[in-house]
Amino acid sequence: MINKINEAVDYIKASYSEIPEIGIILGSGLGNFTNEITIVKEIPYQHIPHFPVSTVEGHSGKLILGELGGKKVVAMAGRFHNYEGYTPQEIVFPVRVMKFLGIKTLLISNAAGGVNPEFKVGDLMIINDHVSQFVPNPLIGKNEAELGPRFPDMTEPYKSSIIQTAKKVASEATIEVKEGVYICVTGPTFETKAEYRMIRAIGGDAVGMSTVQEVIVAAHMGIPCFAISVITDMWIDGHEEIISHEEVLKAAKLAEPKLTHIFKELVKQL
Ligand code: HPA
Repeated sequence: MINKINEAVDYIKASYSEIPEIGIILGSGLGNFTNEITIVKEIPYQHIPHFPVSTVEGHSGKLILGELGGKKVVAMAGRFHNYEGYTPQEIVFPVRVMKFLGIKTLLISNAAGGVNPEFKVGDLMIINDHVSQFVPNPLIGKNEAELGPRFPDMTEPYKSSIIQTAKKVASEATIEVKEGVYICVTGPTFETKAEYRMIRAIGGDAVGMSTVQEVIVAAHMGIPCFAISVITDMWIDGHEEIISHEEVLKAAKLAEPKLTHIFKELVKQL
């Protein structure tokens, strides 16, 4: 594993020698955020040794290196999901690579279904905790001690000081933000009515198909995370509506400017 990470890092460093401070992973329909970055180098995933290649519409599949708010950043436009058939280790490989490139903080966005009745489509939800039990844990298997401990602590994977800063940034821009627990599922099916009901019953506020495995691996390597969901569809008991990927992308696009503002300001203040 370490050798593979180093090969990927060496490849990237051959064309970009700076040390990025912040890693950013952009979710479905949220890739336009990269327009905010002063891009120094763009590398398609297929050129990077051992990188998986993304297949989903709305995920373009390249690593972006550059500057944002006076900070050096590395951003993933496009990420990897269980439903594409990647192994959990493949899904998190880029997070390992970003750590070895030097990142100190990881910012993540995703599109998610809301199950908290106080939410509405287009809301932003800061993730303050998660439930990972419906997806395979990416740390299952031999532990490489150079990467992190066998039994990582998960009491604060979403760093509360960053959450506080993000809330301040949002409030100064009069952007309303919700906060809650994200439940990760594999997809690709959206949830049945019974599944949405279960997700709410076990303490979920939103459900989606990404982020959690990336955060687990970041926690394993001691990287503080901040993650935010764009609520692209809502489940309300008794008012079920049919969901489509197009609807998810459309809602994500509409909420993107709010998310962009928060990420941009947050990067400045980190
Ligand atoms: N469920 C799971 N994943 C999702 C959803 C949803 O309702 N919306 C966007 N991603």
